[in-house]
Amino acid sequence: MTLQCRRAGMKIVVIIIGALLLSEAVLAGLDQKQQGHNAATAAKAGAKECEPTPEAVRGKELYLQNCARCHGGDGRGDTPLGKRLQASDLTDPTWQWETSDQRIAEIITNGEERMPAFGRKLSVEDVALVVAHVRTLRAKRPHATASNQE
Ligand code: HEC
Repeated sequence: MTLQCRRAGMKIVVIIIGALLLSEAVLAGLDQKQQGHNAATAAKAGAKECEPTPEAVRGKELYLQNCARCHGGDGRGDTPLGKRLQASDLTDPTWQWETSDQRIAEIITNGEERMPAFGRKLSVEDVALVVAHVRTLRAKRPHATASNQE
Protein backbone atom coordinates (compact mmCIF):
# COMPACT_ATOMS: atom_id res chain seq x y z
CA MET A 1 0.00 0.00 0.00
CA THR A 2 2.71 2.43 0.93
CA LEU A 3 5.33 1.10 -1.39
CA GLN A 4 3.75 1.33 -4.74
CA CYS A 5 7.16 1.55 -6.32
CA ARG A 6 9.70 -0.56 -4.56
CA ARG A 7 7.50 -3.48 -3.74
CA ALA A 8 7.52 -4.44 -7.30
CA GLY A 9 7.03 -8.03 -6.23
CA MET A 10 3.44 -7.55 -7.22
CA LYS A 11 3.58 -8.63 -10.78
CA ILE A 12 0.68 -6.50 -11.91
CA VAL A 13 2.33 -3.35 -10.65
CA VAL A 14 5.55 -4.29 -12.38
CA ILE A 15 3.73 -4.87 -15.60
CA ILE A 16 1.87 -1.58 -15.34
CA ILE A 17 5.03 0.35 -14.51
CA GLY A 18 6.82 -1.47 -17.28
CA ALA A 19 4.11 -0.65 -19.77
CA LEU A 20 4.07 2.99 -18.71
CA LEU A 21 7.83 3.30 -18.96
CA LEU A 22 7.87 1.55 -22.26
CA SER A 23 5.31 3.91 -23.69
CA GLU A 24 7.31 6.85 -22.35
CA ALA A 25 10.40 5.44 -23.99
CA VAL A 26 8.53 5.15 -27.27
CA LEU A 27 7.41 8.77 -27.00
CA ALA A 28 10.92 9.88 -26.17
CA GLY A 29 12.08 8.45 -29.45
CA LEU A 30 13.51 5.21 -28.08
CA ASP A 31 16.94 6.65 -27.47
CA GLN A 32 17.96 3.92 -25.06
CA LYS A 33 21.19 2.29 -26.03
CA GLN A 34 20.04 -1.14 -25.11
CA GLN A 35 18.37 -3.08 -27.89
CA GLY A 36 15.45 -5.32 -27.14
CA HIS A 37 14.53 -3.21 -24.14
CA ASN A 38 11.69 -5.10 -22.57
CA ALA A 39 9.03 -4.41 -20.00
CA ALA A 40 10.93 -6.21 -17.26
CA THR A 41 14.07 -4.08 -17.49
CA ALA A 42 11.97 -0.98 -17.86
CA ALA A 43 10.11 -1.91 -14.68
CA LYS A 44 13.37 -2.38 -12.83
CA ALA A 45 14.59 1.05 -13.82
CA GLY A 46 11.22 2.49 -12.89
CA ALA A 47 11.32 0.99 -9.42
CA LYS A 48 14.42 3.04 -8.68
CA GLU A 49 13.30 6.23 -10.28
CA CYS A 50 9.85 6.68 -8.87
CA GLU A 51 9.23 9.01 -5.97
CA PRO A 52 8.49 7.53 -2.53
CA THR A 53 4.95 8.04 -1.34
CA PRO A 54 4.29 10.21 1.76
CA GLU A 55 3.59 6.97 3.66
CA ALA A 56 6.95 5.56 2.65
CA VAL A 57 8.67 8.74 3.77
CA ARG A 58 6.86 8.61 7.13
CA GLY A 59 7.70 4.91 7.54
CA LYS A 60 11.36 5.64 7.02
CA GLU A 61 11.26 8.54 9.46
CA LEU A 62 9.64 6.37 12.14
CA TYR A 63 12.16 3.64 11.52
CA LEU A 64 15.11 6.02 11.83
CA GLN A 65 13.68 7.52 15.03
CA ASN A 66 12.79 4.25 16.75
CA CYS A 67 14.71 1.37 15.29
CA ALA A 68 17.95 2.55 13.73
CA ARG A 69 19.87 2.85 17.00
CA CYS A 70 19.82 -0.93 17.25
CA HIS A 71 19.09 -2.19 13.76
CA GLY A 72 21.05 0.51 11.92
CA GLY A 73 19.78 2.83 9.21
CA ASP A 74 20.32 0.05 6.70
CA GLY A 75 18.73 -2.65 8.90
CA ARG A 76 21.82 -4.76 9.36
CA GLY A 77 22.08 -4.22 13.10
CA ASP A 78 25.60 -2.99 12.70
CA THR A 79 25.50 -0.33 15.45
CA PRO A 80 27.27 -0.44 18.85
CA LEU A 81 23.96 -1.05 20.66
CA GLY A 82 22.77 -3.43 17.96
CA LYS A 83 25.92 -5.50 18.28
CA ARG A 84 25.75 -5.54 22.04
CA LEU A 85 22.13 -6.73 22.05
CA GLN A 86 22.59 -8.86 18.94
CA ALA A 87 19.83 -7.08 17.10
CA SER A 88 18.51 -9.04 14.16
CA ASP A 89 19.65 -8.33 10.62
CA LEU A 90 16.44 -7.08 9.05
CA THR A 91 17.94 -7.18 5.56
CA ASP A 92 18.32 -10.97 5.59
CA PRO A 93 16.44 -12.15 2.47
CA THR A 94 15.56 -15.52 3.97
CA TRP A 95 14.10 -13.93 7.07
CA GLN A 96 12.24 -11.39 4.93
CA TRP A 97 10.85 -14.17 2.77
CA GLU A 98 9.73 -16.33 5.68
CA THR A 99 8.22 -13.62 7.84
CA SER A 100 4.76 -12.15 7.27
CA ASP A 101 3.91 -8.47 7.67
CA GLN A 102 1.62 -9.46 10.48
CA ARG A 103 4.43 -11.21 12.36
CA ILE A 104 6.75 -8.22 11.97
CA ALA A 105 3.97 -5.92 13.23
CA GLU A 106 3.50 -8.20 16.23
CA ILE A 107 7.20 -8.13 17.09
CA ILE A 108 7.27 -4.34 16.86
CA THR A 109 4.12 -4.00 18.95
CA ASN A 110 4.89 -6.56 21.66
CA GLY A 111 8.66 -6.84 21.54
CA GLU A 112 10.57 -10.09 21.67
CA GLU A 113 13.17 -11.02 24.27
CA ARG A 114 15.82 -8.28 23.97
CA MET A 115 13.75 -6.31 21.49
CA PRO A 116 11.65 -3.61 23.21
CA ALA A 117 7.89 -3.28 22.59
CA PHE A 118 6.62 -0.24 20.69
CA GLY A 119 2.90 -0.83 21.16
CA ARG A 120 2.53 2.18 23.43
CA LYS A 121 4.66 4.47 21.38
CA LEU A 122 3.46 3.73 17.86
CA SER A 123 -0.11 3.55 16.61
CA VAL A 124 -1.28 0.56 14.59
CA GLU A 125 -1.00 2.73 11.46
CA ASP A 126 2.55 3.78 12.34
CA VAL A 127 3.56 0.16 12.93
CA ALA A 128 2.23 -0.72 9.47
CA LEU A 129 4.31 2.08 7.94
CA VAL A 130 7.41 0.84 9.76
CA VAL A 131 6.74 -2.71 8.52
CA ALA A 132 6.53 -1.35 4.98
CA HIS A 133 9.87 0.38 5.47
CA VAL A 134 11.43 -2.78 6.90
CA ARG A 135 10.43 -4.48 3.63
CA THR A 136 12.48 -1.98 1.67
CA LEU A 137 15.61 -2.96 3.62
CA ARG A 138 15.69 -6.46 2.16
CA ALA A 139 19.08 -7.31 0.67
CA LYS A 140 19.20 -8.83 -2.79
CA ARG A 141 21.36 -11.70 -1.60
CA PRO A 142 22.74 -12.84 1.76
CA HIS A 143 25.72 -10.92 3.11
CA ALA A 144 29.02 -12.69 3.38
CA THR A 145 29.05 -13.02 7.15
CA ALA A 146 30.82 -15.53 9.30
CA SER A 147 27.64 -17.55 9.67
CA ASN A 148 26.93 -18.05 5.99
CA GLN A 149 30.46 -18.35 4.69
CA GLU A 150 30.88 -21.85 5.99
C1 HEC B 1 17.08 -1.43 21.91
C2 HEC B 1 17.41 -2.04 20.64
C3 HEC B 1 16.32 -2.26 19.63
C4 HEC B 1 15.43 -1.34 19.11
C5 HEC B 1 15.32 0.13 19.44
C6 HEC B 1 14.63 -2.06 18.15
N1 HEC B 1 15.01 -3.37 18.10
FE1 HEC B 1 14.26 -4.81 16.90
N2 HEC B 1 15.38 -6.20 17.81
C7 HEC B 1 16.34 -5.94 18.76
C8 HEC B 1 16.93 -7.18 19.18
C9 HEC B 1 18.03 -7.31 20.21
C10 HEC B 1 16.29 -8.21 18.47
C11 HEC B 1 16.50 -9.71 18.62
C12 HEC B 1 15.35 -10.17 19.49
C13 HEC B 1 15.66 -11.38 20.28
O1 HEC B 1 16.24 -11.22 21.35
O2 HEC B 1 15.24 -12.46 19.85
C14 HEC B 1 15.32 -7.54 17.61
C15 HEC B 1 14.46 -8.20 16.75
C16 HEC B 1 13.66 -7.58 15.85
C17 HEC B 1 12.83 -8.25 14.88
C18 HEC B 1 12.68 -9.76 14.75
C19 HEC B 1 13.66 -10.30 13.78
C20 HEC B 1 13.65 -11.80 13.76
O3 HEC B 1 14.73 -12.35 13.56
O4 HEC B 1 12.60 -12.41 13.93
C21 HEC B 1 12.22 -7.29 14.16
C22 HEC B 1 11.25 -7.48 13.01
C23 HEC B 1 12.62 -6.02 14.67
N3 HEC B 1 13.50 -6.24 15.71
C24 HEC B 1 12.22 -4.82 14.19
C25 HEC B 1 12.40 -3.63 14.86
C26 HEC B 1 11.78 -2.39 14.47
C27 HEC B 1 10.93 -2.20 13.25
C28 HEC B 1 12.13 -1.47 15.40
C29 HEC B 1 11.66 -0.04 15.51
C30 HEC B 1 10.25 0.13 15.69
C31 HEC B 1 13.04 -2.11 16.33
N4 HEC B 1 13.16 -3.42 15.98
C32 HEC B 1 13.65 -1.49 17.39
C33 HEC B 1 16.70 -4.71 19.25
C34 HEC B 1 16.04 -3.53 19.00
